[in-house]
Amino acid sequence: MRRISLSLSPGDLADGILQGHLLVAIDVLRASTTICQALVAGATDILPVAEIEEAKQLAESLGRENTLLCGEREGRIIPGFDLGNSPLEYTPKRVKDKALVMCTTNGTALLARLRSGEEAVIAGFVNAGMVTRYLLRRKDDVAILCAGLLGQFCLEDAVCGGMLVAGLEQRRKVRLSDGAVAGKLLYKRFAKNLLAMLQASNHGFYLTSLGFGPDLEFASRTDACGVLPVFREGRIKI
Ligand code: MLT
Repeated sequence: MRRISLSLSPGDLADGILQGHLLVAIDVLRASTTICQALVAGATDILPVAEIEEAKQLAESLGRENTLLCGEREGRIIPGFDLGNSPLEYTPKRVKDKALVMCTTNGTALLARLRSGEEAVIAGFVNAGMVTRYLLRRKDDVAILCAGLLGQFCLEDAVCGGMLVAGLEQRRKVRLSDGAVAGKLLYKRFAKNLLAMLQASNHGFYLTSLGFGPDLEFASRTDACGVLPVFREGRIKI
């Protein structure tokens, strides 16, 4: 029977656990949401990296004319970068036809940990329906990875992972890991008001205190972005 696992924090990822799985990476606040919005707004590619210096060097090597440096530390734009990590900054005017080198604390750091040859679909509430339909079309076992917050569990990624688990379980007979069962239960608890869940979460509370409350509202809009971003060989493309 097809297996669905949900790693609730990046610390749960043991070596070799991902082999042979279809991977899904989640960072609702805010990397996944921002990546989806950037692609909707016409960015050509997103190149996720873990470190600021690496981002600067990569952008230079690509040529700064058609490349933007994007990302955050402690939620704020990195000094000298073109864009921060608010999905609302990623308008067609700013990003259409541009490649984005993106460096965020949790989301792009998770992607940078994947080994060469591994590929992952990026998911948030904003594209959950699209991701679920894609997973339903495939037969492989699925490993859903939560980026978490500074290496720890975070509520919003677990709820989003649980939403995908619930969508898959509704349509197919699947075998769930304990993490997937926990995520599904959390999703059922918060499904009626995702925005309130985001506002109550630790990172949501922090982002609101920085003035990014509207980002939570955007991130809570289920299926607002009809895109399926895929990370493969160092790049995210539709
Ligand atoms: C991250 O990837 O670390 C987050 O998206 C941080 C944020 O911008 O809120």
